[in-house]
Amino acid sequence: MSQDLFRLDNKVALVTGGAQGLGRMIAEGLLRVGATVAITSRKADICEKAAEEMTALGRCVPLPADLSTPEAAVELAARFRETLGACHILVNNAGKTWGGAIDSFPDKAWPSVMSVNVQTPFTLVRELLPELSAAGTPDDPARIINIGSVAGVKTEKLQAYSYAASKAAIHMLTRDLAGDLAARNITVNAVIPGYFPTKMTAHMREEDAVDPTLLSHIPVKRLGRPEDIAGTVIFLCSRGGGYVTGTLLPVDGGLVGCG
Ligand SMILES: NC(=O)c1ccc[n+]([C@@H]2O[C@H](COP(=O)([O-])OP(=O)(O)OC[C@H]3O[C@@H](n4cnc5c(N)ncnc54)[C@H](OP(=O)(O)O)[C@@H]3O)[C@@H](O)[C@H]2O)c1
Repeated sequence: MSQDLFRLDNKVALVTGGAQGLGRMIAEGLLRVGATVAITSRKADICEKAAEEMTALGRCVPLPADLSTPEAAVELAARFRETLGACHILVNNAGKTWGGAIDSFPDKAWPSVMSVNVQTPFTLVRELLPELSAAGTPDDPARIINIGSVAGVKTEKLQAYSYAASKAAIHMLTRDLAGDLAARNITVNAVIPGYFPTKMTAHMREEDAVDPTLLSHIPVKRLGRPEDIAGTVIFLCSRGGGYVTGTLLPVDGGLVGCG
């Protein structure tokens, strides 16, 4: 058995939305265990600054991209290929939400959310299939991780209608892709975060104090931490996680499992 079950030396990863929030936690985790990591952000300066900061941990490459359209995903895959060549790990993390009362929930909240959360992850998978297939072996497959949400599994009363539907869609897409890509030595899993303190959940905190009603709703009574999400993604990307595919893995302090 390998001594380094959870090391990722010589692996190349793409983490969309890796400049901030959960994507940054994941990118830093992958860098710490030896991977080369490319990150995206919509703003070039933010992307470059984040990559520069993370270079202290390993090789981090900024690839600015607005993933609102499938065309942008095709273009990002081309730039990634040109810059890094190989792709062992794809983490589809970039995500968009929209909250609003049902009576006035706008139609425009559907295509934009579905595009960033479901369609462009699919397009990135399709475009990077040659690299992922080339990187994977029966003993050490290539890995695709889609970041889903508890909102796509259980009713969280967030009034984020298109978001919850998009996350349920990426969960199902994960299972479909896992079945289709197993023979190409690529595993596909979804990580299902509960509540983490990022920009997306900023409205649930006031000056860093978390809404006590939210905390009382989480079985372990705390928000997620960087090591919670990074550790799970590292496991799924490592030798230790090579036999896991088609799973939807909650990292949520018990919201799904204990519900
Ligand atoms: N925080 C939570 O509690 C929680 C819970 C469940 C699931 N999630 C999921 O975790 C993922 C990361 O969210 P987060 O919590 O880290 O929120 P966040 O801080 O708001 O980050 C959202 C990320 O998505 C990127 N993004 C948004 N729209 C984009 C677009 N059109 N093109 C390219 N990138 C885009 C952002 O990149 P920029 O740098 O360009 O802004 C940013 O990196 C999402 O898929 C989200 O649904 C989060």
